[in-house]
Amino acid sequence: MNDMVQATRADPFAAFGMPELGLREFWYPVLPAWRLRRRPRQVRVLGEELVLFRDGARVFALDDRCPHRGARLSLGACRFKATISCPYHGWTFDGTGACVAAIMEGPDSNIPGRAKVKSYPALQRNGLIWVYIGERAAPAFEDDVPDLVADRQRFFTITAITDYACNWRVLADNWTNEHHGPYVHANSPELLLQPVPPFNMELSVIDHGDGRGMGVRGTGGQNYAEFPGLGRFPSHSWHRFLKPHGRGVRGRWHETRAFKEFGVQTPTSSRLPGMVIVARPSAEYFLIQWAMPIDAHNTRLFNINCFRRMGRWREWRDRAHYALFRGWAHDRIFSDQDKIIVESVTPGPEHLSRTDVGLIGWRRFVGRHAGMEKQ
Ligand code: FES
Ligand SMILES: [Fe+2]
Repeated sequence: MNDMVQATRADPFAAFGMPELGLREFWYPVLPAWRLRRRPRQVRVLGEELVLFRDGARVFALDDRCPHRGARLSLGACRFKATISCPYHGWTFDGTGACVAAIMEGPDSNIPGRAKVKSYPALQRNGLIWVYIGERAAPAFEDDVPDLVADRQRFFTITAITDYACNWRVLADNWTNEHHGPYVHANSPELLLQPVPPFNMELSVIDHGDGRGMGVRGTGGQNYAEFPGLGRFPSHSWHRFLKPHGRGVRGRWHETRAFKEFGVQTPTSSRLPGMVIVARPSAEYFLIQWAMPIDAHNTRLFNINCFRRMGRWREWRDRAHYALFRGWAHDRIFSDQDKIIVESVTPGPEHLSRTDVGLIGWRRFVGRHAGMEKQ
């Protein structure tokens, strides 16, 4: 019995039932579209090795292993239209994974129609390649991903991608852990001129009720504190004169456009299969941070910046602002402040505290979902 408790505590994620290699039966972004050209490419997604190849705008994903003798298809070539040929003996497969030719056996070979590779639903959207990982029939892309990505009439997106040397659960934890922000990011270029976000808040978990997401509500809190005998945090605030973005609406979120028009229930929403949506009250901009598990020890972070389309001039301004400021200030410096820390986390025994309410809620949420899948 004692051993079991020890083991459970040694792996905090297993204790909550969170799968190490991510949740299956979801669409995932896997690669920027420009990285897939004429040559096939290998990607590792949820621990599986896939080969991607394209025919114009059509994208295909197959298991990266030839059924003949096991060579990597990704070392082969797209020799004929909408197919991939193995580098070893030229067995050739179409986008469904069916063998359509075995080149070294000549055109009369009886292999075509008999050999097959597993295929995955794949498509190109928003400048990204997306793949559905699962055993069931894939839901329509538009029904599975947030509207902000699917609705190209209303939003355009700019995505920054970074690989993290950590498990996806460590990265996703960071997003429900409200109380790291004021500490880790206080001196990031984005927050340098604003008051430090409130800390020491009372936190409660808000289940979005759609089976896909939850958020954390914070009330109270303080922007600075005196620690007797030690000093003040933050140490000085004279440069923090800007009004913070949407901060005043915390208690009145249900009056914002983000809530009324887009149904966003909390300023930050953690959602399956492993993402956070950070909303502006004006609903003019949202940031989706999406963790794609590469394998047990690596995660690809997609920072998908979603801008509401508000005319050509505004789009030009948004793109310029991203290129000149937000792209480096947030998607590089701000995110890298988290990256250094989450990559340093060694999962093991934890001493969770009052401010970890959101994180515990998120782990339970994922664990519940993963449990449901198994039934
Ligand atoms: S191993 Fe692929 S064609 Fe022989
Ligand atoms: Fe952070």
